[in-house]
Order: sequence, then structure tokens, then C-alpha cells
Amino acid sequence: MTTVEERPHTGFGRTLRKEDVRLVRGKGNYVDDVRLPGMLHGALLRSPYAHAKINSIDTSAAEAHPKVLAVITGETLKGLGLAWMPTLSYDVQAVLATDKVRYQGQEVAFVIAEDHYSARDAVELIEVDYEPLPVVADAKKAMAADAPVIRDDKEGQTDNHIFDWESGDQAETDAVFANAEVVVAEDILYPRVHPAPLETCGSVADMDPVTGKLTLYTTSQAPHAHRTVYALVAGLPEHKIRVISPDIGGGFGNKVGIYPGYVMSIVGSIVTGKPVKWVEDRAEHLMSTAFARDYHMRGEIAATKDGKILGLRVKVLADHGAFNATAQPTKFPAGFFHVFTGSYDLQAAHCTVTGVYTNKAPGGVAYACSFRITEAVYLVERMVDVLAYELKADPAELRMKNLIQPEQFPYTTKTGWEYDSGDYPKALQLAMDMAGYDELRKEQAEKRERGELMGIGVAFFTEAVGAGPRKHMDILGLGMADGAELRIHPTGKAVLRISVKTQGQGHETTFAQIVGNELGLPTADIEVVHGDTDQTPFGLGTYGSRSTPVSGAATALVARKIRDKAKIVASAMLEVSPDDLEWEGNRWQVKGDPEQGKTIQEIALAAHSSLELPEGVEGHLDATTVYNPPNLTYPFGAYICVVDVDKGTGGVKVRRFIAVDDCGVRINPMIVEGQVHGGLADGVGMALMQVIAFDEEGNHLGASFMDYLLPTSLECPSWELGETTTPSPHHPIGAKGVGESATVGSPCAVVNAVLDAIKPYGVRHADMPLTPAAVWGALNGRPIRT
Ligand code: CDP
Repeated sequence: MTTVEERPHTGFGRTLRKEDVRLVRGKGNYVDDVRLPGMLHGALLRSPYAHAKINSIDTSAAEAHPKVLAVITGETLKGLGLAWMPTLSYDVQAVLATDKVRYQGQEVAFVIAEDHYSARDAVELIEVDYEPLPVVADAKKAMAADAPVIRDDKEGQTDNHIFDWESGDQAETDAVFANAEVVVAEDILYPRVHPAPLETCGSVADMDPVTGKLTLYTTSQAPHAHRTVYALVAGLPEHKIRVISPDIGGGFGNKVGIYPGYVMSIVGSIVTGKPVKWVEDRAEHLMSTAFARDYHMRGEIAATKDGKILGLRVKVLADHGAFNATAQPTKFPAGFFHVFTGSYDLQAAHCTVTGVYTNKAPGGVAYACSFRITEAVYLVERMVDVLAYELKADPAELRMKNLIQPEQFPYTTKTGWEYDSGDYPKALQLAMDMAGYDELRKEQAEKRERGELMGIGVAFFTEAVGAGPRKHMDILGLGMADGAELRIHPTGKAVLRISVKTQGQGHETTFAQIVGNELGLPTADIEVVHGDTDQTPFGLGTYGSRSTPVSGAATALVARKIRDKAKIVASAMLEVSPDDLEWEGNRWQVKGDPEQGKTIQEIALAAHSSLELPEGVEGHLDATTVYNPPNLTYPFGAYICVVDVDKGTGGVKVRRFIAVDDCGVRINPMIVEGQVHGGLADGVGMALMQVIAFDEEGNHLGASFMDYLLPTSLECPSWELGETTTPSPHHPIGAKGVGESATVGSPCAVVNAVLDAIKPYGVRHADMPLTPAAVWGALNGRPIRT
């Protein structure tokens, strides 16, 4: 029997991942695997205080350590103009603290030593005289008039307020609410969570003092953007910087920003003239790299008595930590939160978002979602359930009644998004059929009679992925287009170079499949090069499920350019006019005479040969392109979660999870399903187990995987997946992104299920994470706030 791997595979469909051949055999090459001759090791001293003035730093004992080469403080950096760096949100962030520390775990000094352990030991020898200051770790308290001002480094900053932003029509929304039969409000927290990739962040900087070229091996989801930022900040010429992102052990948005540790490895290499490696440990990672969410939301929903939803009104207080380092397109300080109208046809909607500084780590990354969409989907899907609770309506029926209908696409929302395509009722109906929804409700009713707690949670989501159209979106002024380059070598083997960077999503396979589909080449014959700025065209990187919508489109289009070029070469080979040729899957053939044709492999050889080509046609078979997406793509899905709750302990068992996803045309259904599996597990983690919590003094309470719990197979059921396919009308192959759909859609399905289970106890809402303690508290009238 031939295995899947042995069959030559061309185009779309299930095929094993090309990258797994090396990854599962331990042949991956991660940043910590990089070892350069003469390489030194760096370690960071981090603040034990969340807010404290730095009176002095004594580095003499550390410098005296026999294996230490240098100790760098903020004062050293000040002299170089590098003590502060810009963030992705046009704020500034301390590389090493000079005046004061503003969160626990903030970077204070950097030690460079001959080996990792000596660097760590010497960090302990640094004496810092801190003067503790009052701490504000709570977003609401940070807005109080007498709150300590965290960002007193910023001229004119007299409070902790960062920005106010709004979307939608306030007057129109207020009018809808004023006339509505039913209005329901709820306070909803999306707590601070952490992407927690398996590999922490790190870098190896190698500044060649002779050529002046900097090579940086780094955990970056966006190598090209990082290179440009380093050039702008450090004044290094961009063409003298090479950023290499080797294999990455998960990113989930956590590796989009630039961290002080990366910058310090570069400074360290410049100072010592040797390569310097910095790799953080798990506690450092959880404490100081970018968090996600921390959105304090008040939602209001207006409806008729019979359940027609009319409007949504939302007020958000967004905790951004000590520096506003949130990753999102410039125009949108709250990311894509204004997609909060979800999948429903509303008359009006309005939101305001206020950003606030607190003594917590900066970040606000789009953890496996497109810029705050997870928060938006959670808000609307909880509000619909809150409405169902008040109306005593079935949550699935209520959704069905209000979903945008297929004939309404393209659909423009009240906050200005143009959803490209969808058949929402079909997806929800399929999920209900797969779940056996009516039977489940019967079972639940019987169990309630017996006093048993079973819950059925429904969620419907629309994502907006593939950032983005350049007229609306940029990051630090860089437009969000992606390049692709494709070469077919004389023997018919191809090399595709792309600007996005896989962190485990399988681009080396799926992007080869896109080329294979366009040109009829076997997937195995196509090498995909990525993650090295010297080897690939410019582009803004992988996050927000943008790889397939943007770079995948670039790949299809560059392959089509090759196909067009190949047609002219084939016409010369066959001595016919190009107009007499037609494309047949993997070759150009003469119309009406299929005996006469040339495959791409044959054409590639001819294009590199002495064959005389028509006037003006260059030889070889290669092409480049840059793709500017005309719109985002809008994947969607219907999720149903079934849980059992133990009354005695508050423990939740996720018994079943049905996920129907529509991401348009699927390139590799196996990879898509893998992406969905991971996202669903993520959702179980967030809903039931995870929060990055702080005490009143700003101490981080979860800097290890013993406190910050990751979901395992024990917490997850065997996922039941379904699909519908609504191609994106503007994407060259009709694909939409999928990498983050399940992380976006699943937390609310799980939470809705748990709250449905405990509905007989009169609980309308409880915040995540719904730990056994929180559920038990809710059952016993003692709500536990995170
Ligand atoms: O940007 P990121 O790679 O995280 O997200 P994505 O574009 O949604 O892709 C995740 C993985 O799923 C990639 O390997 C895609 O090519 C694959 N995919 C697919 O096979 N079919 C789709 N319609 C969407 C994604």
C-alpha cells in the first residue's frame, strides 16, 4: 500500500506536511539551536517591583565576575540614544529602565558573559537601590483622578489616560435604544491572558565589525518589519541588516513586537564585537512579553420582545499596561474591535474604547486573532446569550432569527466593515444537526429534573482576516502588502520565496500546494523559502491569519504570471500562436489537438535553452509580484459546546464540541483541521483555566505553567468538525484565513455552555476563567472576580 507521502501530490487536498520530515525527527533549527563561533551570552536583570524609582545601580560586583565581559544599564544606553524604543502604537518603551520601573519584570540591566549560567549568576550580583512607589494594577483605579501617574516620562502626561476611540453612529444607536422594547446590559471582562507559545523569545545578534553587517537570528513573526524598525531606531542601514527567523515554536501574536531583549543582544554584539545570544526563560516570558486581552467591557443590547436584535452599544476600558505597545493597524487603537456587531443584521451600533496605562507588562497582542476580534466576538456572543436569558429564548433559535442572510452579502456593517461572503444559517443548521441539538435539549431537561447540571453553549462568529487594504491599514507607516517570487529551474523544480513566516502553521506545504495547483507541479518539487530577509521579498509577516489571504494570494498570482510567460515559450516550442493554446491542468496544449502540448517542466527547460523566443520575451521562467488586498476576508463558524458541571466541586467537563468552520476554499483540509483543533483547545484553556493575575502591589501571580495552566488532551473532548465552503469573491483562489478562527469562536461557546448549565441557579453572567472555584462561587451566590 502506498502511503500518503509516497503518492506524488499536486494541488489542493490532504497531504502530509513537508516540514514535519525535519520537525518530528528533531532536526528543527530554533534560535536557541544557533551557535556561532565565539558567541557570548546575555541575561537581563528584571525589576522585582511594579512601580519604583531607581536611585542607583551598582554593577561593580557583576563586572568583577571572571566570566563577565560587560554590564549594560539604561545610563549606558542613554549615551547611545537607545534607552527608549518606539512601540508598534507610536508610544515609547524603555529598553532598560533609567528613571523608574513601571511593571514587575521590567528590564533594568543586561549582563554579557562567556556562558549562559555565568550571565545569570552575575545578574544576581547587581545592586539596585529602588524606592517603591504606589502601584496601580487595576484599569478602573488607574483612571481615578488621584491615581499615581505611571508615564511621567511623557511630557504633558498628567494622568494614565492613553486614548479615546469610537466607532459607529452614537445618535442613531441611542435612538434605537430609546425606542426598544427590551434593553439588557452586562459587565463583561475578557481577562488578561498570555499566548504562551512553547518556545520563549530569544535572539542571537552578530554584528560584523568589518563589513558593518548585522545578522540577527530571532523569534520574529515579522522579520521584514523588524528589520525596517531596527534600521529606523538604531540608525543602521537597512541593507546591512539581515533578520533570520529560523524555526519558531509557536507565536500566536506573541512574537510580533520587538522586545528589549532583542535590542540588547544587538547592543551587546556591537559593544563586544562578538555574537551575543539572549534567550529568556519561561517565567520571564510569562511576566514580560506581550499579554493579550485585558478588556473591561460594558455591553448593552436592544431588541424587540420577540427577539429581533436591533442594536448594540459597548463601552470598553482597555488595560494596555505600562507602555502602549499594542500591535494593530495605526488607524485602529482598539484593533478590529468594532467588528463587535458580529454575525447579526442590526439597525445601529456604537462603541467607545478608552485606553489606560497600568503597572503591568505592555503588549495587547492579537493572541491568535485579528487585532481584538476575540474580545469583540466574546462580547457579542455573551450579549446574545444574556438576551436569550432575559427573553427565555433558545440561544440557537435567537441567533438563527438574527443572522445576516446569504443574499445580503456583500454586507456592510454599522461600523463600516464589508463582509465579503457567507451563508450563516447553513453553518448554524449544520452544527445543530451534527450536535443533535433538539435531543441535547431534551437530555438537558431530563437531567435538570434530576438536579444534574448539563449545559449547551452556542456561539457564532465572523472574523476579519488578511490585513490589509493599504488605504485603511498600515503598521508604523508600513503598508500591509506582501511580495512573492517564484522561479522554475531548468529541470522543472520550483523555488517560491514569500514574506510571511510560519510558526507551525505549515506554510512550506500549503504554499507549495498553491503553486502546484496553478502550474501542475508536484508539491514535493516546490521549495518554499521564508523567514530570511536576505532571501525573501518584503512583507509584513504572519499574524491575524493574514498569510493565506495576503501572501497566499500573492503566491497564486505570481504562479499565474509564470503560466502566462510559459504560454509564450510554449507557443514558440509548438510553433503556434499563443492564442491557439489552452491550459490543461499542467500544460499548455493546442486547442483541438491535445496530442500537442508542453508541460511546465518541458517549458522550463526550453526557457533556459537556446530556443529562439519571440521578440521581446526574456528567457528563464521566473516572476515576482506584490499583492495589495482589496478587502479583508471574512471566515465564520458555528460552534456548539456541551458540558457537564459538578455541583459539589464546580468542576466543568467539556463533553462534546462541534465546530463548523467556513474558511472558503481549503488548500489542505488536514492542516485546516489541525489549526481548528489547536484553537479549540486554546478556547477551553481561556474559558476554564487561564488568567494572568496580579495582586494589589502589582506582583505577577502566574509566572509558571504550574499557575498559568495550559489545556491538555485531558481537558479536551474529541473534536467534532464540520465545514461549509463559501469562497471569498476577491481572493484569487477563494480562500479565507483560518489559523485563528477557533481561538476566536470557542471561548464564548464554552462559557455559554457553563452558564447554560448553571442557569437554574439564576446566574446570567460570570467572568472567565470559569475555574471550579469560580463556578462553585457562582452556584453558591459568591461571585469570584478575577
Ligand atoms: O497567517 P496564518 O498562517 O496564521 O493563518 P492562515 O492563513 O489562516 O493559515 C493557517 C494554515 O492553514 C496555513 O498553512 C494555510 O495555508 C492553511 N489554510 C488552508 O489550507 N486553507 C485555507 N482556506 C486557509 C488556510
